[in-house]
Amino acid sequence: MSSTIEFTINGKDITGRPGQTVLEAAQDAGVYIPRLCYMRGLAAFGACRVCTVLVNGRPQAACTQTVAPGMVVENNTEKMTAFRRNLIDMLFVEGNHFCMFCEKSGNCELQALAYRFGIAAPKYPYMFQPREVDMSHGDVFIDRNRCVLCGRCVRASRDVDGKHVFDFVGRGLHKRIAVNAEALLGDTELAVTDKAAEACPVGAIVKKRVGYAVPVGQRLYDHKPIGSEIESTAL
Ligand code: FES
Repeated sequence: MSSTIEFTINGKDITGRPGQTVLEAAQDAGVYIPRLCYMRGLAAFGACRVCTVLVNGRPQAACTQTVAPGMVVENNTEKMTAFRRNLIDMLFVEGNHFCMFCEKSGNCELQALAYRFGIAAPKYPYMFQPREVDMSHGDVFIDRNRCVLCGRCVRASRDVDGKHVFDFVGRGLHKRIAVNAEALLGDTELAVTDKAAEACPVGAIVKKRVGYAVPVGQRLYDHKPIGSEIESTAL
């Protein structure tokens, strides 16, 4: 079996490895495919669908789709950008995201995706669902108002920390992140040094006492759009 796999993304020749996903092969070639629930080092989950691309004309999640010889992938097209913009728009109004008051502002992947896609104001009406905040842990808090149900904390705690602190409960609009204790985060084994404490792409799981250590205006996405760190590596 060949040790490399050739395919194209938006007409650009890409070389991947057998078993590699489209998203990771693209990333290695300096092509950014937007994503939210994906995190390098964690098992792919395929939940958010922000990474959707067309593979030979059919929609597929780039974070779970493995590469195949000759596949034709469409990524940054008008159609895919409009699709992703709609997903981001829906995530914003489904939660309660008050970016101007959020410690994660400037480091938040949801906010950064919105900026990348030119979203300045919500397109759909806000749902203003009541969500719980859990401040019971000494070092970390959960603000479910900002949770996008990406499951990165679930996979990080289970697969990296070996603790199973987080999981999903409920269905549909009532789905939320729960902890494996009678009631509160403070009753779990979560440590501030856990991978799960830093896996959140938004401001839902936040470490205490380090807020604003990097001032707003000097953060990851304050000057460069999300994905530019990948695109800058393109050959
Ligand atoms: Fe692929 Fe979320 S990043 S489905």
